Amino acid sequence: MKKMAIVAVLLAGVAAVLVLFGQISLVGQGNWPSRFQSNGERIYFTASSASGDAINPRGGNTHMGMMSNSGCASCHGADRLGRRLMPNFWTSAPPLTPAALFGEHDDDGHGDHDAYSDVSLRRAITEGIDAGGAPLDRAMPRWSMSEADLADVIAFLKSPVPE
Ligand code: HEC
Repeated sequence: MKKMAIVAVLLAGVAAVLVLFGQISLVGQGNWPSRFQSNGERIYFTASSASGDAINPRGGNTHMGMMSNSGCASCHGADRLGRRLMPNFWTSAPPLTPAALFGEHDDDGHGDHDAYSDVSLRRAITEGIDAGGAPLDRAMPRWSMSEADLADVIAFLKSPVPE
């Protein structure tokens, strides 16, 4: 029993340190827009399309933020800079900025994948395959949505991140 108490205290300590250093946050970081400029932005934040067409994630529901059936922002951040997930804070959702996705891979601070094209980005979102052809962690949901909605999300991911 004593051992378990020690483990619990240690785990609480690790979690507290991570929260302190801003590595994990319980609410989405960055500012949520008060109204969406595009359907792609709306999908990114809410996982719902202006057209009313269904948008469904498969898997990936390990994140607390997903309980409310929210969009990409709940894991990748309102600022698109990525974040650690809760409760499994050892998993990170990577940044989805134009530099991180489409930039030269040695200066995007990410370094471990090739630049995405429209085709490979589509595959990452719907099939969970990264730019180099490797499967993404199951923490990333596999999304089904209409072609038009997918094109809108991709256009949004190409747009610059607001200051
Ligand atoms: C439940 C959390 C979660 C949600 C919601 C989520 N993702 Fe992810 N996503 C991840 C994780 C975790 C990874 C990293 C997987 C890995 O490292 O293998 C990822 C990876 C990605 C990648 C690959 C990035 C790279 O650097 O290779 C893309 C693209 C992506 N997500 C797009 C999206 C889009 C678009 C949405 C919304 C439609 C979305 N994700 C919603 C967790 C999430």
